[in-house]
Amino acid sequence: MPSEKSVYLPNPSVAKNAFVSSFAQYQEMYQKSIDNPEEFWGEIAKQFYWETPIDINSFFRYNFDIRKGPIYTKWLDGATTNIAYNLLDRNVKNGFGDKVAFYWEGNHPDDYSRLTYKKLLEEVCRFANVLRSKGVKKGDRVAVYMPMILEAVITLLGCARIGAVHSLVFAGFSADSFAERILDCEARVLVTADGVWRGEKLLSLKNICDQSMNKCAQKGHNVKTCIVVSHLGRVTSPSGVQKNRNNKTPMQEGRDVWWHDIVPQASTDCVPEWVQAEDPLFMLYTSGSTGKPKGVVHTTAGYLLYAATTFKYVFDYKPNDVYWCTADIGWITGHTYVVYGPLANCATSVLYEGTPFYPNNDRFWLVVKKYKVNQFYTAPTAIRALMKFEDDLVKRVDLSSLKVLGSVGEPINPEAWMWYYKLVGREKCSIVDTFWQTETGGHVLTPLPGATPMKPGAAAFPFFGVQPALLDESGNEIKGEGEGYLVFARPWPGIMRTLYNNHPRYETTYFSKFPGYYCTGDGARRDADGYLWVTGRVDDMLNVSGHLMSTAEVESVLTEHPNVAEAAVVAKPHPVKGECLYCFITTTDTTRFDDKLLTELKQLVRERIGPFAQPDVVQNAPALPKTRSGKIMRRILRKVAVNDRDVGDVSTLADSHVVEELFASRPVNA
Ligand code: PRX
Repeated sequence: MPSEKSVYLPNPSVAKNAFVSSFAQYQEMYQKSIDNPEEFWGEIAKQFYWETPIDINSFFRYNFDIRKGPIYTKWLDGATTNIAYNLLDRNVKNGFGDKVAFYWEGNHPDDYSRLTYKKLLEEVCRFANVLRSKGVKKGDRVAVYMPMILEAVITLLGCARIGAVHSLVFAGFSADSFAERILDCEARVLVTADGVWRGEKLLSLKNICDQSMNKCAQKGHNVKTCIVVSHLGRVTSPSGVQKNRNNKTPMQEGRDVWWHDIVPQASTDCVPEWVQAEDPLFMLYTSGSTGKPKGVVHTTAGYLLYAATTFKYVFDYKPNDVYWCTADIGWITGHTYVVYGPLANCATSVLYEGTPFYPNNDRFWLVVKKYKVNQFYTAPTAIRALMKFEDDLVKRVDLSSLKVLGSVGEPINPEAWMWYYKLVGREKCSIVDTFWQTETGGHVLTPLPGATPMKPGAAAFPFFGVQPALLDESGNEIKGEGEGYLVFARPWPGIMRTLYNNHPRYETTYFSKFPGYYCTGDGARRDADGYLWVTGRVDDMLNVSGHLMSTAEVESVLTEHPNVAEAAVVAKPHPVKGECLYCFITTTDTTRFDDKLLTELKQLVRERIGPFAQPDVVQNAPALPKTRSGKIMRRILRKVAVNDRDVGDVSTLADSHVVEELFASRPVNA
């Protein structure tokens, strides 16, 4: 029987035909990517179209050392291109117009459709023309709040075609969060849908957008155009009823317009905007430890090269394969591995709207079987949720098409890895545990399916061009075995270039702790065989079901409540979510901590951030453990959360009785 202590070799059937079919070949390619990045990436760049050719003299320049001046990274500077042209026109010109780009699978199994490369190109051109007609120009930001539907892909590429910068916000964020992000990026155009069914739940997306737009208007920012896809009318609701088009969705005259009233009429001819290699392609918000979200900016040429190359090698995608990434398009995984990476490789993908549990808990497996999926990419939290159901749900489905299984978003525990490997992969698939971040643009640590002997839970080795290091607290590099801060010593093409409108924050957040390195905020361990194991965040960030958020963000929402004097939030391990929120609050003098307050606090977090941020535990804390200088000792709170009385040294606490009180007042459900 396999065990998590073992090393699993790639199955010979996977390795035999893989792009990288041995560890020695990986090492050789890796070395070349480090020794001669111009040659390595230059070769890859030749596959794409450059309106202004690449100048080898300005191929790659950077400064990663804050002591030497401003931080910057430039790839292929001086070349011009268009990413939508490379993803669509190029593939159509190469004879793949009739190839399916996406199989769309709806929430309800009766709903499905497909889109070829040629048709996708036409739709993107139409939508791009609509954006132009609405006055959107190169560099303008377009806010997007969309479900997993084909129009979401069309929207992204329509923006890219005219050089507009898309700014997607995951359609699970609240109206408040969305408004904050629209204001930050100053978007004048918004694209959404009336609503979407997720399992048996109806999400009224346009209503949320209306609230967001109102909030923006109160702050003096008016969204000029809101384009709305009428989606609910064309899908089957859980009760089996088809809804009518233009249902009760309120539309504001002069601002809101239905997609179907303007897009189908638009021309399918749209000259692409040739943009500079380093012009921004999109921005995407990620949580910051101060609580204010950071608008991560990715640029065009480097991101194209990196999305394309990681997709090809990490999933070992071959021309007739069918690939499926379950991530929502509103996260970076959706950007790079639902849209840009697959299309850059002329891939056929599945785009799935629903949840793993609808109509039954075997939906993922049935979709794999239906489309004969070869590469399946999901998150540990989904795997852990599905592991709870009987094995037979997986065993009875023919999953023999599968070749590569991917994992992303958080460390995968060996138990979940083994279940994925044995039950889903039937011990013949390679598992790629891909470590990366919104900021990195694409995979940075990952096994390669035909080349890397796998260790359950190890993200293993760097991708081409990536140079990781482990540092101790004083910035000394840990060579060989050991554990430390995970950093990168030089840029790869897909790394973010700045934070929107805030380059100083970019420099302080990522480059000031260890000058000369990009600091991930994660810790990692290198074992005796050189494998890297990411151990999780080393800052004040929480990872709940793969959703990154900051303790500060949640604390500031909790303290908004008039009855809360102070709040501190820590992560507590959770069997399915990975981590969950454990909140300590001290109430104002006159307040009693009761169920009403508890409900209000949970509701407040849902409203301000989104349902995924709802706390699992809220503890009434008479006081918080603080140092004499007033700093909250989170280390102790983390111990209370897991009921571990081995709290270590408490001599720096102003009042050590607090600790005992906290253990004594843990809620029964904690
Ligand atoms: O802590 C790491 C964790 O997710 C963080 C990045 O989150 P985000 O920017 O939302 O992007 C998620 C999708 C790429 C990282 O700092 N993380 C992501 N993948 C892994 C991981 N931790 C361990 N192993 C992974 N494979």
